Amino acid sequence: MSSPKLAQIPADIAAVADYSAYARERLGEQAWAYLAGGAADELTLQDNRQAFDRLRLRSRVLQDLQGGHTRLRLFGDDFAHPIFVAPVAYQQLAHPDGELACVLGAGAMGAGMLVSTQASVELEAIAAQAQAPLWFQLYIQADRDFTVALIRRAEAAGYRALVVTVDAPVSGIRNREQRAGFVLPPGIEAVNLRGMRPQPSGAPPGDSLLLGGPLLAAAPTWRDLAWLREQTRLPILLKGVLGAADAEQALAAGVDGLIVSNHGGRTLDSLPATIDALPEVAAVVQGRIPLLLDGGVRRGTDVLKALALGANAVLVGRPCVFALATAGALGVAHVLQILRAELEVAMALTGCRDLASIGPQLIFTRSHH
Ligand code: FNR
Repeated sequence: MSSPKLAQIPADIAAVADYSAYARERLGEQAWAYLAGGAADELTLQDNRQAFDRLRLRSRVLQDLQGGHTRLRLFGDDFAHPIFVAPVAYQQLAHPDGELACVLGAGAMGAGMLVSTQASVELEAIAAQAQAPLWFQLYIQADRDFTVALIRRAEAAGYRALVVTVDAPVSGIRNREQRAGFVLPPGIEAVNLRGMRPQPSGAPPGDSLLLGGPLLAAAPTWRDLAWLREQTRLPILLKGVLGAADAEQALAAGVDGLIVSNHGGRTLDSLPATIDALPEVAAVVQGRIPLLLDGGVRRGTDVLKALALGANAVLVGRPCVFALATAGALGVAHVLQILRAELEVAMALTGCRDLASIGPQLIFTRSHH
């Protein structure tokens, strides 16, 4: 029997990473493997963290910090701070109330939340509990009519942006899940995809196993992005861009925002850490559209590092889910509160009174300025 959910935050949870052990005690082996694991040897999963840890910050002393704040505006909405909840599928694996508890926690901290296409709760019910703007994470489905219907539902429910995840046309090689024998437990499903025509499946002709087959034939391309642009007036962000070539193509396609992401190290193992990939993308974007990052953000100093290297905001995935598994909405709010408090301390100690003051000068290099 796993440990019960907590109604209070234990005093020994001081940092976001402390939730991991508490979550593990409360999750079965399979759910843990699904939520915590990454692709293959988990090189990218580990590097997301290690790359943040390698960076050092430059302090500034005696700066005037009066009137300081962490506010920002994105797509016409005001946010109290630049820390968002990443889209994570099937949150009922972590908590019986799933996304409903998560959105309560996010709302308590004024945090924007991205709701997965594969949420285990109806997108309308999540929106009904929201106290801060929600963005809908869209996987373009092989059934394009169903995809449009899903967008209409998100629009009607008041979602403020569409985040199209483009880095997972096929699922990664996820050995941890495989070894644990992960399957979705009965009663947990992607409820928002009910009624969709089944995904094309079957073996490709010839002797290949994936390439040339029906799954990839139905996978979206840049042409589908142009099609999507015609379907909605919501801002469209692409999630899962890691390099200059894709960033340039996305800008040319008229996207409204980009998220530098490697899907939390769950798709292609050996992709770079997102904080290492960020400068290349930021150099293309040049501040023309909002740029976000996720992957390995566990400290306020990580948020600061991402903003210093060109991001406007960050998303946090696993820590929110681990906190959800530990203490429900309260846990999620606590994770966001810790990160925000750490960010404010880091801003004060680097002499930044607002997000606009955060720039590459904050990253320590041995050369003198
Ligand atoms: C994800 N992620 C994800 N992304 C997405 O666009 N749609 C989805 O349904 C999911 N589902 C999902 C499930 C689980 C269990 C995880 C851990 C992640 C990726 C997620 O949005 C985000 O990119 C990463 O989780 C960020 O990395 P960290 O913060 O978990 O290190």
